[in-house]
Amino acid sequence: MFKNTLDYAIQLDKEDKLAHLREEFHIPKDKDGNDWLYFTGNSLGLQPKKTRGYIQQELDDWANYGVEGHFEGETPWLPYHEFLTDKMAKVVGAKPLEVVVMNTLTTNLHLLMVSFYRPTKKKYKIVIESDAFPSDRYAVGSQLKFHGFDTEEGLIEWKPREGEELLRIEDLENIVEEEGDEIALLLIGGVNYYTGQYLDLKKIADIGHAKDCVVGIDLAHGAGNISPKLHKSGVDFAAWCTYKYLNSGPGSLGGLFVHEKHADNKELPRFAGWWNHNKETRFNMRQPFDVMDGAEGWQLSNPPILSMAAIRASLDMFEEVGMKDLREKSEKLTGYFEYLIGQIETDRIRIITPSNPKERGCQLSIQVKNADKNLHKKLTENNIITDWREPDVIRCAPVPMYNSFQDVFKMVEILKDLL
Ligand SMILES: Cc1ncc(COP(=O)(O)O)c(C=O)c1O
Repeated sequence: MFKNTLDYAIQLDKEDKLAHLREEFHIPKDKDGNDWLYFTGNSLGLQPKKTRGYIQQELDDWANYGVEGHFEGETPWLPYHEFLTDKMAKVVGAKPLEVVVMNTLTTNLHLLMVSFYRPTKKKYKIVIESDAFPSDRYAVGSQLKFHGFDTEEGLIEWKPREGEELLRIEDLENIVEEEGDEIALLLIGGVNYYTGQYLDLKKIADIGHAKDCVVGIDLAHGAGNISPKLHKSGVDFAAWCTYKYLNSGPGSLGGLFVHEKHADNKELPRFAGWWNHNKETRFNMRQPFDVMDGAEGWQLSNPPILSMAAIRASLDMFEEVGMKDLREKSEKLTGYFEYLIGQIETDRIRIITPSNPKERGCQLSIQVKNADKNLHKKLTENNIITDWREPDVIRCAPVPMYNSFQDVFKMVEILKDLL
């Protein structure tokens, strides 16, 4: 078992075969040059040192080739998004045909709902988690309204039971069992942003499909964190961002997944632009719209290459390391973090996140009774970057690519002192 000493944390870092990756990131520092203890990869991942070079290459190609950069240079812009597809597909457990990088998360959720939220008078309701991320709640609310339904009446919340924080799959089963005939769509966060709970995507898909409901997943807190196996899960669609665990920079583009079973369904209603038109005839102009197969068939515009260059830099790192090793370290690192928190002698602390490593990613949501935002402020003053959620929860994500066992040890020591 683990030990609660700095020497032991140092030992774990020595044994960590991924420890060298930390050197490949810019770790922010305080004014005296000390590294921050950065635990907010769940919000914005740190910058890989190689990102600058990838973006610089595209700036150089633009400087050297102008518009010809679409065809010239090492990574021509015309097919640029294709350079990302295979690697992104591996990160989320999908087939390349099922994945594309485009737009940003909420935009992609809307575009997917254009195709997959097709309400009828009788079957129109949408299920979300009661603690869904606000943007998702607003998005589904506006979709209901757009189709002429009442936002409150049309929305069903999958809630934790009284006195609990975590969701129980059997409660979703009951909702769908009882109201499934009226439900058109389940839109669920694969890893809940607040509790860090990683839900069983296959079970959710099976529950929804048993009653002919479409199943979509928001994977913002999952991509690059857990290994979701999107294809096998059978969910109809998913969308995620790349600025959290995928370290691709603020506001960077998102990823989109449409299951293979819908890949060649040209009858699915969708919005169109030149980028989801058949790439063989895209530049022939005056062609009737001919939609592409697979996830690429949801693109609209030619994409921003500079943002994609940052994603390419990050995905190259994921490709090199592989999700298997990352997950292995992640489970150990978060397990050590959980163990150390458990060693603090206080009844003020409770971890909301599931203790089973299979039901969480790297994030722990720590509830501190009788604490207020002052605690978060004090942590920040001590170089510990975490994220505070009212009324009393600190979200902390030790990220296996750049956080160390010493990071979590030092963090818990300071938390203990502050309490
Ligand atoms: C779960 C979840 N959904 C949606 C969003 C919104 O993302 P975007 O601003 O890229 O649309 C976020 C942002 O953090 C999120 O965490």
